Amino acid sequence: METRYEILSEEELGTDRAEEILEAAGAIIKAGGLVAFPTETVYGLGADALQEEPCRKIYEAKGRPSDNPLIVHIGKWEDIYPITETVPEEAKKLADAFWPGPLTMILKKSDKVPMRTTGGLDTVAIRMPSHKVAREFILKSGGYIAAPSANRSGRPSPTLARFVREDMDGRIEMILDGGQVGIGLESTIVDLTEDKPMILRPGYITKEMLEKVLGSVEVDRTILDATSKQAPKAPGMKYRHYAPKAELTIIQGDEDKVVSFINDKIRKDHAEGKKVGVIATDRTGKRYLGDSVKCAGSRDKEETIARELFRILREFDDEDVDVIYSESFDDSGIGQAIMNRLLKAAGHHIEYIE
Ligand code: TXA
Ligand code: MG
Repeated sequence: METRYEILSEEELGTDRAEEILEAAGAIIKAGGLVAFPTETVYGLGADALQEEPCRKIYEAKGRPSDNPLIVHIGKWEDIYPITETVPEEAKKLADAFWPGPLTMILKKSDKVPMRTTGGLDTVAIRMPSHKVAREFILKSGGYIAAPSANRSGRPSPTLARFVREDMDGRIEMILDGGQVGIGLESTIVDLTEDKPMILRPGYITKEMLEKVLGSVEVDRTILDATSKQAPKAPGMKYRHYAPKAELTIIQGDEDKVVSFINDKIRKDHAEGKKVGVIATDRTGKRYLGDSVKCAGSRDKEETIARELFRILREFDDEDVDVIYSESFDDSGIGQAIMNRLLKAAGHHIEYIE
């Protein structure tokens, strides 16, 4: 299959060219095809959420296990009603505060949503993205777009269209390139189907932000605790994810000690002829000996790190490094989501230094 590739920025919306592209994308979806599109979190791989066959194609294109449910993306609030059994008060409050935006809510599904979309569950994950290209595309496509991140299963979610191309070229009908995404980590998922709201996946919308709206919010224990024997409540969180080909170790401790500890490791690796990658920050980047030292961003602005993390993990694969060391990040605010993804990428391999 030939994949049509179109650059379409938010600024271009409303022009004849943009209209023509969005019409074509909508037509592909209605005919049961797949279109990758930008959102504010990561690129999504979209199909009609209310048809079985297109959703089956998503699993095939990604190489994704079929028990891992998809998020249904909507373009306007009213569209939540036909796909849910009930919309609790908390959902309205969260939507007022955070939609459109990087928050996904789990609610009881209606019969309109096929089991194929929800991986056999009687609940459905719903999100209204804030990216304008995403919203226009959803509305042009019938209103309900099932979209996982547009990566091959197991790879980091794409934050640039060229990564979508790498994974999906020839497997899907169209890629909409809206440039680099703003946030860089997938949406926060909150489950509203139990007695208490519970975070199943941390993201840009933090526990503190949710608690301002809802009062107390729980966090699925399996998110940060590698030793937990419990299965995560979001089926997708159980899979090994984001893992680069090289072995990744996180080093946590005082900054100066981390730098010298990693440099000691690098000297040993070099003696064994290994090529080494390092994930550093703007303050430390120049101090490392590694062959490929990548500055993820600034500790004073952890959003910068969120935005670059997945790109960096992918680049190490292209550079064929043998081992990677990463600094550790603050576990508050967006840092919780960063550490959640980084720990998964590292297979929870972390060393603490005194
Ligand atoms: O930011 C995002 O959420 C991106 C963009 C494209 O919107 N999408 C995304 O989708 O990250 P995906 O498929 O990569 O991750 C969806 C996660 C999986 O961990 C899945 O198990 C969980 O959501 N999920 C979906 N439906 C669920 C449900 N009904 N109950 C529990 N977890 C669910
Ligand atoms: Mg994903």
